[in-house]
Amino acid sequence: MATLALALPRRTEDRLLADIVEHGHAIVARAATVPDLLDVLSESAPDVVIAGAARGTLGAELIAACDANGVRLIALAETDADRRHAVGLGLFEVLDASAAWSEIQPLIVGGIVIPSRIEDPSPPVAVSRTGSARTGSARTGTARTGSMRTGSVIAVWGPAGSPGRTTLAINIAAEIAAAGHTVVLADIDTYSGSVAPTLGMLDEAPGFAAACRLAGSDSLTRSELERIAQRYASPSGAFWVLTGIGRPSRWPELSGERVTRTIDALRHWVDYVVLDTGFSLESDEEISSDLFAPRRNAATLAGLRECDHVVACGLADPVGMSRFLRAWVDLAEVITTDRVSVVMNRVRSSAVGLDPRGQVVQALRRFGGIESAVLVPQDQQGADAAVLAGRTLRDAAPKSPARVRIRRFVRAELLPVPAQAPTGPRARVWWRRAAAAR
Ligand SMILES: Nc1ncnc2c1ncn2[C@@H]1O[C@H](COP(=O)(O)OP(=O)(O)O)[C@@H](O)[C@H]1O
Ligand SMILES: [Mg+2]
Repeated sequence: MATLALALPRRTEDRLLADIVEHGHAIVARAATVPDLLDVLSESAPDVVIAGAARGTLGAELIAACDANGVRLIALAETDADRRHAVGLGLFEVLDASAAWSEIQPLIVGGIVIPSRIEDPSPPVAVSRTGSARTGSARTGTARTGSMRTGSVIAVWGPAGSPGRTTLAINIAAEIAAAGHTVVLADIDTYSGSVAPTLGMLDEAPGFAAACRLAGSDSLTRSELERIAQRYASPSGAFWVLTGIGRPSRWPELSGERVTRTIDALRHWVDYVVLDTGFSLESDEEISSDLFAPRRNAATLAGLRECDHVVACGLADPVGMSRFLRAWVDLAEVITTDRVSVVMNRVRSSAVGLDPRGQVVQALRRFGGIESAVLVPQDQQGADAAVLAGRTLRDAAPKSPARVRIRRFVRAELLPVPAQAPTGPRARVWWRRAAAAR
């Protein structure tokens, strides 16, 4: 059962009413005008708004208010013009006003979108559809930030079983920011996005989904990004955060194309984009024969294809290693593994026996042909202190062994090699400053 707010033409509402009640949903409000609807959103906090797609009802203001309140928005279009208007605003869930309740119901309960009814807006002329630096094409960018500089994208991926993707992504972002770069951390996990709760942030306004929606309508500007992103504030290196979808059922909003365009926009905004991805690499085309069906793994696959560097992490215990090695084969089918750093997380002897580091390295080499890996130790105290405080390891437990190893990895493999230390009389000052920065 869901709580619904309706802002529909009378005849559509009358047609749907019986079905809504029969399916056990509660209508908490009906609004005739946009201001009424905005009041309803803040007062009765419905789960879903079903609104007409006409210009008079549906606008950027309503979409922003739904985002801010964590409310799903479904638009019903009476005409082609209304449909184009809704899709042009970046709205994903747009159905015909004549749709039967059986078509609307799945959107409310599970986010299973009826594929034939999804359309992406036609491409704006100036936008790079591939968004890939590796294509060698001119990168015009979705965000019209006015800058030609493009940042690097790092995707943190790992198989099922919580190997520590979010922990690594957060702390990689923190260490890069602390080195003086601008950074955005984007949660693109369509199964269990958890950057927001880990950093103690509100996830009601799902930043990345909102960015995707704006990218879909070619309006993802720098000021929009600064509006929808949250800031992780820290004296030692603040960074932007685009939180994930609080409700996993919203995954259809993260289509591959929109994710690609959003990543391209982010590159033009900051120096480094860190993506916290989902685990599954299954390409749903093989499961569903419908070419137009939305793909739940599209966001992760797009992130991996668009990024410059992948951090592939696994759990350093027998089960985690076997999961990782199996998934490693799948990863190699999606990307070339020469731009991958392997990180084995939570290395500990209690799970693998004597010399856990040696054992992990040997297993990776023997069964995966992986020659080098970063080994992050088990660090319950550090991880718990960070989660408890909703802070990065750098801020909550700067001396923790996991943080020290992640920082070393970031400096050695993700950031450009620093200029050589000067020699001569100024050398001592340089070293003192460098030490202070650490
Ligand atoms: N090196 C570590 N030592 C101890 N606990 C860790 C370590 N890395 C991650 N964790 C903990 O493991 C859990 C899962 O981590 P998380 O990053 O959320 O995984 P994922 O994003 O892959 O699902 C969290 O509770 C986190 O605090
Ligand atoms: Mg996670």
